[in-house]
Amino acid sequence: MSILISGGTVVNSTGRSQADVLIDGEKIVAVLPPGAKTLGVDLAASVDQVVDATGKYVVPGGIDAHTHMEMPFGGTFASDTFATGTTAAAWGGTTSIVDFVVQYPDQNILEQYQAWHDKAAGQCAIDYGFHQILSDVQDSSLTAMDELIAEGVTSFKLFMAYKGVFLSDDGQILRAFQKGADNGALMMMHAENGSVIDTLVQQSLAAGNTSPYYHGVTRPWQAEAEATNRAILLADLAGAPLYIVHVSAKQAVDYIATARDQGQNVFGETCPQYLYLSLEEQLGAVSEQWGDFEGAKWVCSTPLRARAEGHQDHMWQALRTNDLQLVSTDHCPFCMADQKELGIGDFAKIPNGIGSVEHRMDLMYQGVVTGEISLERWVEICSVTPARMFGMHGQKGVIAPGADGDVVVYDPNGHTSIGLSKTHHMNMDYSAWEGFEIDGHVDTVISRGSVVVADGEFRGRLGHGRYIKRGLSQYLI
Ligand code: URP
Ligand code: ZN
Ligand code: ZN
Ligand code: ZN
Repeated sequence: MSILISGGTVVNSTGRSQADVLIDGEKIVAVLPPGAKTLGVDLAASVDQVVDATGKYVVPGGIDAHTHMEMPFGGTFASDTFATGTTAAAWGGTTSIVDFVVQYPDQNILEQYQAWHDKAAGQCAIDYGFHQILSDVQDSSLTAMDELIAEGVTSFKLFMAYKGVFLSDDGQILRAFQKGADNGALMMMHAENGSVIDTLVQQSLAAGNTSPYYHGVTRPWQAEAEATNRAILLADLAGAPLYIVHVSAKQAVDYIATARDQGQNVFGETCPQYLYLSLEEQLGAVSEQWGDFEGAKWVCSTPLRARAEGHQDHMWQALRTNDLQLVSTDHCPFCMADQKELGIGDFAKIPNGIGSVEHRMDLMYQGVVTGEISLERWVEICSVTPARMFGMHGQKGVIAPGADGDVVVYDPNGHTSIGLSKTHHMNMDYSAWEGFEIDGHVDTVISRGSVVVADGEFRGRLGHGRYIKRGLSQYLI
């Protein structure tokens, strides 16, 4: 099967040009001047399929480096399976995800890793890789890290919050960081001071403040900033590269920026919810159906922050200045019915997470429309940098000969109305993004040379998606 994507503007992180893209089998084989001929014959006449991209952008497929399909969490499971979640991702122009293998205390890491393969195999519409979560860091965890690197799992997430669930203490974190310094793994951190949060939560519930709004109040920016700074110092002590996930507090960004200025290998991601949504508007929302429990739709950690404090603007700025390097979704969906509802009367029992895997490319493109970021930076933070950060670049994250045929044709003159559970493809009974209007549209999505979305139809196949055996981060000096 060969595909010619003709007449479009090819965008990579370094610039844009008018070019045709030729895919043969699973790979991009050529990026050519528009209307190129082979042996005097129009290329368009000799390929199996032509995708007309006139007036549209041709970009490397999106890479969402932070998802939680079917994650066991908060007394339930994230509502998207690998099947529904990767299908929704494809609809939104994402052609690769990196999902987190979960290890709870006393669970065997390598067994968990195998369990994630069993869940994903044959179920994915697009390609997928894995990070590994470490909770209790035992001797066996450290040897498992070496074994997992050989398997293509080259990044490991630790938690400074969720005591008794995920939390690692500082000594355990140091030991894991020392291993990362030794074997080249990228260490990832959920940076929130869990002990401080647990105390504030108890005080809030005792005072009768039980609604979702208080989820945000009891996870203040100080808890994120303190933990971010502590993680940076522990990584410095161990000599390990560090990647802070889901950054939402501007003060946390400033610690990351300072460490980077001092030459430390520290990186940060943020997510669309921290760019667009807020404590006041979402966690504080009231509806006819749910009353002040409406805010549960947006309970995630780190939490949405006060717009009055300026965090959202600071996140956009940090993306422009490269104080933050990329945007992923932290896709961790739960339905309101039977799942978020677990926390009626006690916000601490609301399963933490927001679903956005389908909307990341659109939501970030809207930042191009509003002038927050450039077109090239959009491609960089959504595809190029995730590929480099997580050891996939060359195969993923670029439109160039030899790369996988993961390509999105994006229409800047199209329009996308996000919302309503009936119009998105994630397995959720609501949308965290209802009412968002995007001045752009994902038109055609190609995954490893197969058209998976075109003409408003899903044409993919579960089982097409393949495991990505990642290398070490290509972002380290
Ligand atoms: O609320 C969130 N972020 N849920 C997913 C788990 C995590 O901490 O990333
Ligand atoms: Zn986290
Ligand atoms: Zn997460
Ligand atoms: Zn369109």
